[in-house]
Amino acid sequence: MTNALEKDRVLIFDTTLRDGEQSPGATMTHDEKLEIAGLLDEMGVDIIEAGFPIASEGDFKAVSEIAERSQNSVICGLARANFKDIDRCAEAVRKAAKPRIHTFIGTSPLHRAIPNLTMDEMAERIHDTVTHARNLVDDVQWSPMDATRTEWDYLCRVIEIAIKAGATTINIPDTVGYTAPLESADLIRRLIDTVPGADQVIFATHCHNDLGMATANALAAVEGGARQIECTINGLGERAGNTALEEVVMALKVRNDIMPWHTNVDTTKIMHISRRVSTVSGFPVQFNKAIVGKNAFAHESGIHQDGMLKNKETFEIMRPEDVGLSGTSLPLGKHSGRAALRDKLGQLGYEVGDNQLKDIFVRFKELADRKKEVFDDDIVALMRSGEDAENDYLQLVSMKVICGTGGPAEATLEMEIDGQDVSATASGDGPVDASFKAVRKLYPNSAHLQLYQVHAVTEGTDAQATVSVRLEEDGNIATGQSANTDTVVASAKAYINALNRLIVRRGKVGEGADAREISYKDAT
Ligand code: KIV
Ligand code: ZN
Repeated sequence: MTNALEKDRVLIFDTTLRDGEQSPGATMTHDEKLEIAGLLDEMGVDIIEAGFPIASEGDFKAVSEIAERSQNSVICGLARANFKDIDRCAEAVRKAAKPRIHTFIGTSPLHRAIPNLTMDEMAERIHDTVTHARNLVDDVQWSPMDATRTEWDYLCRVIEIAIKAGATTINIPDTVGYTAPLESADLIRRLIDTVPGADQVIFATHCHNDLGMATANALAAVEGGARQIECTINGLGERAGNTALEEVVMALKVRNDIMPWHTNVDTTKIMHISRRVSTVSGFPVQFNKAIVGKNAFAHESGIHQDGMLKNKETFEIMRPEDVGLSGTSLPLGKHSGRAALRDKLGQLGYEVGDNQLKDIFVRFKELADRKKEVFDDDIVALMRSGEDAENDYLQLVSMKVICGTGGPAEATLEMEIDGQDVSATASGDGPVDASFKAVRKLYPNSAHLQLYQVHAVTEGTDAQATVSVRLEEDGNIATGQSANTDTVVASAKAYINALNRLIVRRGKVGEGADAREISYKDAT
């Protein structure tokens, strides 16, 4: 509550595992969710929205296990405005030291039309569901979805009802990324001034980035009196994404002179979690993305380099170390030993056990044999391509490709599918096409290739290539990534990785897809 909270503290509510994971193609496995939750907890995020427990058995299990493991953060689950969702959510967060239920309903005219409720009926529903949630846990967050397009009088009325029913946090979502900074600040300020009981709760801001204003809108909402920002790592989220955690946290740190609020986030953990979220979600971070993009701290032009050598502050408003980037990065080579590798992994934010280090060292040596200098980005890519879990349904064992000059290319792949060794040869229009066709021969599927992207990790002809592949099948989308000095191998692995994720996603279909489809409806 505002009274209990330091006046200049802004709570960080991370929804990477709920709103972020809901983004088409960003499906994470159970273990990946646990890992990301652990990193969020460790970096000082106040509240983790761990999932939407009613959406699927998988979501329920992930929220429950995250709740059980969390050390510091409040663990929150999402629930629609009905008793069944709320009960399931309460059950999922039960084991958390600090559990929260977040329940929501669409209050704008367009959203009210979906469950076909009158304004009075919806008001009654809000009263009943918030009361029910509050009977199950002490910490209840309520959101009027599409608040920024809801009629002012009605918005005030329903917020008052939710507060009276026991909500402790009122979140104001800009669900479709429609608002702008001045309006965002003004809306929160007027709500706090107008709604009876507003001073007894925390107001939160939840912005989407459809017009590229999510970060600005969230910070403006804080200016207006909000004390909780909802955000995701790398701005992951539906459509253009959500407010990026790293942007609001660093903006409050760097411009504390004009925005005198602070968060509890350890900013030196930002880079590592950004890389992990990019890897596990399969969403590459754009090179020029603020704070976490590959170029965010690169000063290539002659004028910039000259200025930087004289005084770093000429072009740098924050130090790379503040976000967890090591200032100097000496490359490793084929003579580097295990200790040097462990040291480098530590600098990059990877804590590995002895057995894991053994595996990574073997792959590092293979890479160092192929590549003279192994840079930090190569190590990160190496860690990413080690993601093919041993228990993946589809695994690449070996491949051989013959490129045709003037004729088709031919690829022979050996794979392990559900524990069985199989192989096939296919020809295609180039080596990548031939290898994808060979995979399809071995594992027939109707997945449609939506995106195929190749990036060189570092410079030089021996550079590793990171390949991203996005597939779509019956409305399910999955992205796979892989890195290798051989672009064709990386492509085949990324394709197989995406298929494995699609298989995980299919596990969610049924309950999950149905639940998401009806997520904005309101069945009791
Ligand atoms: O964008 C939105 O409105 C949401 C709600 C569920 C809070 O994500
Ligand atoms: Zn949202």
